[in-house]
Amino acid sequence: MHLYGTQAINEQGHLTIGGTDSVELAKNYGTPLYVYDIQLFRDRARAFQQTFKEAGIGYQVAYASKAFSTIAIYQVAAEENLSLDVVSAGELYTAVKAGFPVGKIHFHGNNKSLEELQMAFRVGIGCIVVDNFHEIDLLKKISEQNKQSMNILLRVTPGIEAHTHDYITTGQEDSKFGFDLKNGQADDAFNQTYNHGYLKLIGLHCHIGSQIFDTSAFQLASEKLLQKMSGWKQEFGYICPVLNLGGGFGIRYTAEDAPLKPAVYVKKMIETVKQTSEDLGYPIPEIWIEPGRSLIGDAGTTLYTIGSTKEVPKMRKYAAVDGGMSDNIRPALYGAKYSSLLANKANALSTEQYTIAGKCCESGDKLIEQADLPTVEAGDLLGVFCTGAYGYSMASNYNRIARPAVVFVENGMSQLVVKRETNADLVKQDLSYSQKAIQK
Ligand SMILES: Cc1ncc(COP(=O)(O)O)c(C=O)c1O
Repeated sequence: MHLYGTQAINEQGHLTIGGTDSVELAKNYGTPLYVYDIQLFRDRARAFQQTFKEAGIGYQVAYASKAFSTIAIYQVAAEENLSLDVVSAGELYTAVKAGFPVGKIHFHGNNKSLEELQMAFRVGIGCIVVDNFHEIDLLKKISEQNKQSMNILLRVTPGIEAHTHDYITTGQEDSKFGFDLKNGQADDAFNQTYNHGYLKLIGLHCHIGSQIFDTSAFQLASEKLLQKMSGWKQEFGYICPVLNLGGGFGIRYTAEDAPLKPAVYVKKMIETVKQTSEDLGYPIPEIWIEPGRSLIGDAGTTLYTIGSTKEVPKMRKYAAVDGGMSDNIRPALYGAKYSSLLANKANALSTEQYTIAGKCCESGDKLIEQADLPTVEAGDLLGVFCTGAYGYSMASNYNRIARPAVVFVENGMSQLVVKRETNADLVKQDLSYSQKAIQK
């Protein structure tokens, strides 16, 4: 059995997280319930930053908040001196509401609207990661109209696709994001921005994939970007002080996953950037990274109550929980795998294998194909691990199921940070049909 962060098992055989008893959490807040181990988030944030500090290199670690965006987590991120990556007006609004230091917010996205970009200028965020030529036009317009400057990074696609232990290099990347490094798009974007009066081009950005368990793809990406930056220095005398290598650091969802420690990824990046810069005669840039999953993924556990069970003779046993694809779409969307534990009988031996089914009207609504568990009964509490990233943030009201509450746990205390939706919330935006209104 693998426990994460501050998880432990107490004398009653209950899973505890952050020093709180999961059975008590379920009683107090109901299920399904997203429980976040805030100490784990803090430890990761510190681990990423510590390695940069020790190397004495300029850096920013931006929490990629698409993984889990709420006011409370932005406040913890601010306490941990993280920067913040947002991708929509909604995430930016949430960050502002949270009182996050606006100068440390980076704005991403492949189709930011005029209104979103105007909001970014109004709020005065730290930088915009520019994705395409349309966006360059919008940014020029806004900055010139406002007579306001804005730091920008150009997002480029370096032709590296990384996932788990492998990566592939492609001459040209088929991606909806960014300027291609090889076919001249990145050069065009550079030419359109580097000497603009208000847009301050401070660097290049790339994000090469997700669940990466190896450092080589990051090394290759940093070499490619530095070569491009060095080429611009030689040709135009222009120096970009920032190299942003994105996120994608892997975590352990199941025993098949073998992630590296944050320090290992960061050390290799620093080594490569220093060496490549030296080889190219380029001033060592600041290194920025954007971890999402590796900061918040294994900090999250979802607690579910088991309801019905069903045996299909000679095939499998199903155990159904009170949530499913509405609170965690990842297994149905792309076959993501998870591990689990019977949280109220955490010491009981696993003697059975169950398919954990959700309650949505969709055959594909299965959270775990093969969960090794003791014999389960209705009312048992199931903890599904590593649901902290892209769980709540991708949750929906499919089947008009209300979204679960979110609690933070730390030092033996729990705190509700997102209220459970009610049925009334579900119809809040609905308007009654009126024959008269249609006729007019
Ligand atoms: C641009 C960018 N940065 C960072 C991330 C975070 O990735 P991860 O959660 O895998 O660290 C993503 C994820 O999609 C991304 O698109």
